[in-house]
Amino acid sequence: MSPARLFFLPLLIPALLCAFYSADASDQQLQTLSTKPQYFNPKLPLRPLSSSKRFEGSSDLVQLRYHMGPVLSSAPINVYLIWYGRWSAPHQLLIKDFLLSISPAASRRASPLSPSVSEWWRTVSLYTDQTGANVSRSVVIAGEHHDTAYSQGTHLTRLTVQDVIASAVRSAPFQVDHKNGIYLILTSEDVTVQDFCRAVCGFHYFTFPSKVGYTLPYAWVGNSGKQCPEVCAYPFAIPSYMGGGGGSGPKPLTPPNGEVGVDGMISVIGHELAELATNPLVNAWYAGEDPTAPTEIGDLCEGLYGTGGGGGFIGQVMRDRSGRSFNVNGRRGRRFLVQWVWSPVLKACAGPNALD
Ligand SMILES: *[C@@H]1O[C@H](CO)[C@@H](O)[C@H](O)[C@H]1NC(C)=O
Repeated sequence: MSPARLFFLPLLIPALLCAFYSADASDQQLQTLSTKPQYFNPKLPLRPLSSSKRFEGSSDLVQLRYHMGPVLSSAPINVYLIWYGRWSAPHQLLIKDFLLSISPAASRRASPLSPSVSEWWRTVSLYTDQTGANVSRSVVIAGEHHDTAYSQGTHLTRLTVQDVIASAVRSAPFQVDHKNGIYLILTSEDVTVQDFCRAVCGFHYFTFPSKVGYTLPYAWVGNSGKQCPEVCAYPFAIPSYMGGGGGSGPKPLTPPNGEVGVDGMISVIGHELAELATNPLVNAWYAGEDPTAPTEIGDLCEGLYGTGGGGGFIGQVMRDRSGRSFNVNGRRGRRFLVQWVWSPVLKACAGPNALD
């Protein structure tokens, strides 16, 4: 069901998909960023590789195909947020700032610095349906529901997640928006979810009329801060077998907003939204022959955040003066670290912080 899978396996997959390439252009890129962040990758070995190897093998290995279903092409995409459990206002604001950074700013002056979240979403908007309509570039938060009473308990299953949506859409002023609406359920760090941490960090699917009354695309993402940060908030926490306990192994990166759990969630939210937009009813864009286990545009690039990533390397990202890592800028000066997504044009993983 289109999960954001565990990071261990996918760390290996991008190595196959996205061959290493050199980062000669880094000086050039640095000049465009007024804050002079440094590109770095603590895990990237210092060996220059030919840029001609850039997309080697990628398009042959990946058979991402269109299966004739709809994409989220109506503008704007209305996101309905369902906060399940106990959430703090600063954490909610951080996630909302990410979502509100997806749409291009109204004016050039109001635009965040490049590379930006909306430039990251630009890759998603390159996907089209059979009428030639692109995925919408604009995303708004159309409504919020606070399920602070844990209406379905502190453990959710894939089916009771739909009960959470059902009760949210029944409560005013939350609307049933089956035209432009998608529903994003975010569970607090004390909520366990079926397969969370063991197999998935988030998933997307659509609701069933028998449960919710309508077929509504939705995604769930959990706060892994307490449960499994080394799995779902990687690379802000690192599994002990990789040296997460200290020693000479790779060190976890410092999250851009100082929040391991929520900063980690933001990349998973980006992953799920990108897949929801391009495969909302699980009959549009995916690779593989099995629609019950589709490989989608986020899955293909999981664990990859910058140039030179793959094979356990996250790629080159930026670091601010206080050592926090990020790869995109958002509204109100926010910074985020968001995984790359598969580009149908480049036939490779792509992100706005690419160094070429
Ligand atoms: C729509 O997608 C096509 C194909 O990927 C792309 O060439 C085009 O630039 C996109 N149009 C917009 C308005 O984003």
